[in-house]
Amino acid sequence: MKNNGEFHIRKKRKKEHIDYFLKSNHNRSNLFEDIYIEHNALPELNLEDIDTKCLFLGKYAEYPIMIDAVTGGTEFSREINGDLSKLARKFSIPMAVGSQTIALENEGSRESFKIVRENMGEEGIVIANLNAHSSLDDVYCAIDMIDADAVQLHLNTAQELVMKEGDKEFKGILENIKNIVSSLSKPVIVKEVGFGISGNVLSRLYDAGVKYVDISGAGGTNFIEIENERNDEMDFSDIYSWGIPTALSLIQCRRFKDDVHIISSGGIRNSQDVVKSLILGAEMVGITGEILKHLLYSGYEGAYTYIHGIVYKLKMLMLLLGKENLSELKNTPYKIKGVLKDLI
Ligand code: FNR
Repeated sequence: MKNNGEFHIRKKRKKEHIDYFLKSNHNRSNLFEDIYIEHNALPELNLEDIDTKCLFLGKYAEYPIMIDAVTGGTEFSREINGDLSKLARKFSIPMAVGSQTIALENEGSRESFKIVRENMGEEGIVIANLNAHSSLDDVYCAIDMIDADAVQLHLNTAQELVMKEGDKEFKGILENIKNIVSSLSKPVIVKEVGFGISGNVLSRLYDAGVKYVDISGAGGTNFIEIENERNDEMDFSDIYSWGIPTALSLIQCRRFKDDVHIISSGGIRNSQDVVKSLILGAEMVGITGEILKHLLYSGYEGAYTYIHGIVYKLKMLMLLLGKENLSELKNTPYKIKGVLKDLI
């Protein structure tokens, strides 16, 4: 255990993030509405033939949808992780845990992360999560804790700068990522938390050896707003619109190189966002806020119904595009219009 005071601050913050997340309401657009795809009235397919299986991080998932990083480390988050991991197992989809820094500082809080691997079993795809300036030893420890198939290193500069107690020093992060990628045998996914990864940033990450990104663009959960609610010293509401909309971030990253694995996330709410992400070249689509909202407002059953709807409508839309599997779906023509077109 490192520092008991810091542990209690982290624990309190985890709860506040969820409370303020539920109260937040600034709606930024992910800009997927500016992607037009065409209906096929004569698909010549049966619904039961639509195949959504995919290989991700060396294992099979039933759908290219994952529960992205949320929480862990407290009694409250143990319950959330318990339910989320049961859902991940039920649908046979991957799940990333929330930042494990709290569990590196306090062994007692590890249980709230370990429950994810326990519930998902050996065949489940489980992803560890730490800040991108974490040490290599901490990364090994986070992976071991949950026998993770990969680790996400999150970049959350905008969030830290709005937090009173947040980091203000960001030099050396790229070098640290480079060192971790070259030392680990498991995949390292560099992840944003809702402000997007640009093509330029991806190019610098790629030169450092990174082959996986979780773009987490703007359009959904907004950590400038969440942290602003926790900060009584300064008002940041004038920059709530900050960030790269998810569709733009995805297009920029996809255009950069073919051999980069992209997780599309940030404001993914419905099956159209999922289908458009896959057409634009994402390998996996991450959802956090929407699943969490359904879970907290309507319990396990509510979250189950939400995910069930997404996967049914994913198959339905694939059929309405005349695409039988995910590799066919990737070749769907699309048009870019409106604001998104202006930004490209
Ligand atoms: C998050 N997110 C997050 N990301 C991360 O890498 N580590 C973390 O510990 C957390 N914690 C966290 C807590 C809460 C309450 C929320 C809502 C989100 C960010 C998350 O994984 C995702 O990148 C963003 O929320 C954007 O996706 P959505 O929410 O718009 O689908």
